[in-house]
Amino acid sequence: MSEPIYDERYARPGLYWGSKPTRLARDVVRLARSLPRAPRTLVDLGCGEGRDSIYFARRGYRVLGVDISSVGIRKAEQRASRLGVDVRFQVRDIRTYRLGHRVDVVFCSGALNNLPRRIRATRFEHFKANTAPGGIHAMNADVPKPYIPPYSMNRFATPFRSGELLGYYGDWEILDSGQGEFVSHAGGVPHRKAMDVVIARKPALGSP
Ligand SMILES: C[S@@+](CC[C@H](N)C(=O)[O-])C[C@H]1O[C@@H](n2cnc3c(N)ncnc32)[C@H](O)[C@@H]1O
Repeated sequence: MSEPIYDERYARPGLYWGSKPTRLARDVVRLARSLPRAPRTLVDLGCGEGRDSIYFARRGYRVLGVDISSVGIRKAEQRASRLGVDVRFQVRDIRTYRLGHRVDVVFCSGALNNLPRRIRATRFEHFKANTAPGGIHAMNADVPKPYIPPYSMNRFATPFRSGELLGYYGDWEILDSGQGEFVSHAGGVPHRKAMDVVIARKPALGSP
């Protein structure tokens, strides 16, 4: 099981996405500081070469990074071991992957668009059900804009409808949400992108 487009990119020398953590990962670490109970366990869905997984692990989280690309996962493992950071990585497909235990944080940056529309609701249900009370989800998803030409390096990717991501969290507290536009260099061709972002918190036990 693997994803040839990403395998091919991850097989190149260097880090395809760079070593700097995403803004979403940094926002999670910042927001988590103000939570009543500090989150400890985190799963990074579609972790690629592990830049965010490694960042979280360095900040004390117990991290599992999963990705469909075995080449990406191998690179992530090698980098973590070179840096002396304790992170677990596994080759998994987020369309079918089932969390074996409850986690405090489900994190997904740049991979949600690989979930086909028809399975999204059940996938979100699964990840929400397997999040500890008071735990958080931090997610982003590409959304189409009429004034931005469509671009995707991945033939399996399907855009989210504007606001769709937030809609999965109607019963959770929204810690942060919004939409941003930026220029991506993924695939070697600079292109504009719009993304929805949500950081949401599952109600803690005993909350109304
Ligand atoms: C845009 S990259 C983001 C990588 C990483 N989150 C980062 O920001 O560095 C999207 C990632 O999703 C992974 N991916 C695509 N389809 C997947 C699937 N069905 N299951 C798991 N990972 C998948 C790709 O291999 C790729 O690593």
